[in-house]
Order: sequence, then structure tokens, then C-alpha cells
Amino acid sequence: ADFIRAYLARHTDLLEEDMCQSIVVLAGAGISVSSGIPDFRSANTGLYDTLRPELLTASELDQALIGDDPTLALDKGMFLENPLPCLELKRSFILGTQERRWRATLAHRFVEMLHTKLGKLTRWYTQNIDGLELQTSIPREKIVNVHGSMGAAACEVCGAEMDFGEFCSKIRTNIKDISGDDAEAPSQSTPIDCPRCNNPTMKPTIVLFRSSLPKEFHVRCQQDLPECDLLIIMGTSLTVAPANSLVYRVPMTSLRLVMNNEMVGRRLGIDYEDDSVRDVWASGYTDQSCLDLSERLGWLDDLATMADE
Ligand code: OAD
Repeated sequence: ADFIRAYLARHTDLLEEDMCQSIVVLAGAGISVSSGIPDFRSANTGLYDTLRPELLTASELDQALIGDDPTLALDKGMFLENPLPCLELKRSFILGTQERRWRATLAHRFVEMLHTKLGKLTRWYTQNIDGLELQTSIPREKIVNVHGSMGAAACEVCGAEMDFGEFCSKIRTNIKDISGDDAEAPSQSTPIDCPRCNNPTMKPTIVLFRSSLPKEFHVRCQQDLPECDLLIIMGTSLTVAPANSLVYRVPMTSLRLVMNNEMVGRRLGIDYEDDSVRDVWASGYTDQSCLDLSERLGWLDDLATMADE
């Protein structure tokens, strides 16, 4: 317990320190897990471990490929060839987003307080597409959705936009029931045509593998990273580039706080030794670490009010 307290004291100091003026947050799926959304890579519970390719509408060959590499279900080449695996995989997520089925977690609220209480949040880079960060009061321009977001729909080929409500009602109704004997089998989506180019390539505005990141990511990185005093890495495995490049693009003088239930980013240079001069690991659940930090910073009442909203 003393060991943990010493670590927590060090975190609190980092945040309140005068020398720490600019905080950049890099978040991933782990911060939304407690709201009920699975992450991608956790063993047994992550999307890639629980994915059953045989239930996705794809050729047998594609199913076998997806079985070997589940990220292929979210690959641009695969989507252009056959949009259904991606749409099927994301259907409950798309509809859940429209229904606001999930709520911001304590970790989201903690980042909110870096802005409202400390005024030090320069930018929140999130790889998440769940939009939970938009439930906070953080100004939109402080958030970069590195992998796009679910709350809008556009054509992957020509970029034409479609009202998200209309897209969702098509997702809801463009379904053939193929459940048959297998109660777990999902019904089969049908593709959604683009109103402009007529390709069957309408999808939520999420970034697929092997497609470009929003320009905003690159522009903001150039602005933010040279000034960053503290990079907080929360709930991400740091496996996907270029989002993970923030880790080594911040100046050598900036500190890095990893809030994650496993050690991540060692190959990117994060140092988990006790005597590390720039890296600190808050191990365990992000919500718990955020709660502990909030307690030490005297923010618990604010956190409780926010969690009730
Ligand atoms: P991952 O699933 O790869 O990593 C989530 C990390 O959070 C893992 O290290 C988990 O151990 C950790 N974790 C899970 N729950 C946690 C909790 N409650 N508290 C603390 N840590 C927890 O998710 P991302 O790193 O976000 O991209 O994945 C990056 C990208 O890969 C995603 O944006 C997505 C995916 O393929 C695209 O789809 C383009």
C-alpha cells in the first residue's frame, strides 16, 4: 500500500506542478470498458477474441482470413470488396450510439476535470469511436477523434454524407433474417447505397485499417506535441500506428503517465523500471486510478456530481 501511495503522490505532483502546463491525453478502448463496450485486444473479452468470422457474411476464404487476422473485418480493402462484415460487426455499436446506450466513465470525467479544474488539457486524442468524450463539457476543438467517430455517416468512396438518423434507420431495416436454427447467428445486413455515387459503400465515419487518418490528427500533433509537459496514456494497448507515435514524439523532457491494466508501449520506449525518470505506471483499472487521483486532488465531489449527470 505504501508503494502505491508513493506512486499516487508522484502522479498528483505531476498534475499540480507549475512546470506542468500542457497535458495531452491519448486514450483507447480500455477507458470505455466499464460503460459496457468491449475493447479490442483483451483476452477472452476483447472484440477480436470473441469475433466469430463464420457469422459474418463473407466468402469462406475471407472468413478464414478474418479468422487469422480479425482486424481484416475493419480493413478498407475488405470493405470495398464486401461492406457487410464491417457493417454486421458494427451494427449494434451504430444503433447503440444513436440510442446513447452508453455513458461516459469516471476516466472520461477525470479528463474533463483536467480541463475544468486545472485548465491544463491541451488536447484529448482518442482512438475510440464511441463518442463518449462528447458527453463531457470539454470544447469540441480540444478533442481529436484519431480513428473517426460513429455519430455520422459518409460514403467510403466519394465522401458523400448521409444524415446519421437516416443511416441508422437503414441499418435497422436493411436486414434479412437468416438466423435459421442457430439462435446466435446475426441476421444479415444488406449494403447501404451512396445517394451520390451509388456504390454500396455508406458507413459510419470511422477510419478503417489502410485508410487515411483525419487531417486534423497530423495538424494538431504538430501544434501540441512540442509543447507537451505530460502525456497521459489511458486504456490503450499502443499497438496501432500512427496513434501510438505520440509516445515517442513528445519531447524527451515530457513525462508520461500510463494508466492501464497491463504494461504497454515498452517497444516504443516506455520505461517501467521503478527508477524511471520520465515514466510512471498507474496499474489497474483506469476508473480506479482516476478515482484515487481525484481523491488526492480533492475532486471527489465534482466527480460525483458529474457521474450523476
Ligand atoms: P485495445 O483493445 O488494443 O487495448 C485496450 C487496452 O486497455 C489493453 O491494454 C487492455 O489491457 C487495457 N484495458 C482494458 N480495460 C481496461 C480497464 N478497465 N482499465 C485499464 N486498462 C484496461 O484498444 P485500443 O488500444 O484502443 O482501430 O486499440 C487501438 C485501435 O485498434 C482501435 O482504435 C481500433 C483497433 O483495431 C481501428 O478500428 C482502426
